[in-house]
Amino acid sequence: MTDKYVLVVGGAGYIGSHTTLHLNEMGYRTIVFDNLVSGHESAVILGDFVKGDLHVISDIEAVFAQYDIACVLHFAAYSYVGESMAHPRKYYQNNVAGTLNLLDVMLRHNVLDIVFSSTCATYGAPVQLPITESHPQLPINPYGASKLMVERILQDYGHAYGLRSVVLRYFNAAGADPQCRIGEQHDPETHLIPLVLEAAARGTPINVFGTDYDTSDGTCIRDYIHVNDLAAGHELAIKYLSATGQSAVFNLGNEHGFSVKEVIQIAEAVTGTSIDARYCARRAGDPAVLIAAADLAKSELGWRPAHCSLSEIIETAWEWASSRPTSPIQ
Ligand SMILES: NC(=O)c1ccc[n+]([C@@H]2O[C@H](COP(=O)([O-])OP(=O)(O)OC[C@H]3O[C@@H](n4cnc5c(N)ncnc54)[C@H](O)[C@@H]3O)[C@@H](O)[C@H]2O)c1
Repeated sequence: MTDKYVLVVGGAGYIGSHTTLHLNEMGYRTIVFDNLVSGHESAVILGDFVKGDLHVISDIEAVFAQYDIACVLHFAAYSYVGESMAHPRKYYQNNVAGTLNLLDVMLRHNVLDIVFSSTCATYGAPVQLPITESHPQLPINPYGASKLMVERILQDYGHAYGLRSVVLRYFNAAGADPQCRIGEQHDPETHLIPLVLEAAARGTPINVFGTDYDTSDGTCIRDYIHVNDLAAGHELAIKYLSATGQSAVFNLGNEHGFSVKEVIQIAEAVTGTSIDARYCARRAGDPAVLIAAADLAKSELGWRPAHCSLSEIIETAWEWASSRPTSPIQ
């Protein structure tokens, strides 16, 4: 570790804020750069914070001029699949053009190490399970396509300009800081676990999209990974870049799938509440099953997820949701 800073772009968001907290607790110095379009300054509880936008080159330049930066973690993006179908321009503009601005400034300041938040959405509808990093990448929505474009840009910038990147393809991030200092605060919320917990707290039904998938109970199956395990993966990615100087791509997932109905059952047990499901038609663009193969992150990064039980993951999310002043949970 050096005295230099880690720049966390999008670090006021859900995964970025947990990663920033983790890095500070591990002794790193961080600056979060975020325009707060979906993040919260209050989630940046350790390290420096700079409000800035990836579309304003002078904002990015200012942070590189002020701080001695060793490495960039790039979380900033729009990430609503449905919205990306209706407004693809917004997604390519922010996720791709915004990233190009960031890379331009990095290269100008000779900062060559970047860890990029990619997604299992780059794989599209899986043709084999579990999904390894070499699975075909055929995204079925503009969100996934925008992330795949950045992956390709990073690869090309590696060859042409010596940029070194670790691409982390997350599966479904879930849970919260076990000490309840920060958690998931999306608005609107589209992720299943916070929605199920809100349904439990309010006594309202949860929409379940599709009951006729080719799965054991007909509902979609996803791989849930605790947000702190993603945070630890970022620290390992930083170390990997400085130790090897090599670019790489890793899946980060628990390698275990849970159906929507199973998530609801586990949430019922965690909350001690009965949760009503409202069964709806399938949503366009939802693959039936997404389960990671994460052997590569384990062997190359030494990554070991610490929160493997879904019940434990949901418990941390429930404790966080219950601790908030606006919580309907009494
Ligand atoms: N949450 C998941 O399950 C999941 C799964 C796979 C991949 N990802 C990816 O991980 C990253 C983080 O996800 P998250 O759930 O924490 O999202 P989030 O929306 O909570 O965080 C994104 C952050 O980026 C900031 N931001 C967006 N555009 C910006 C811009 N132009 N300039 C500066 N800041 C900007 C937002 O204000 C926000 O704080 C995203 O890139 C997302 O696509 C998330």
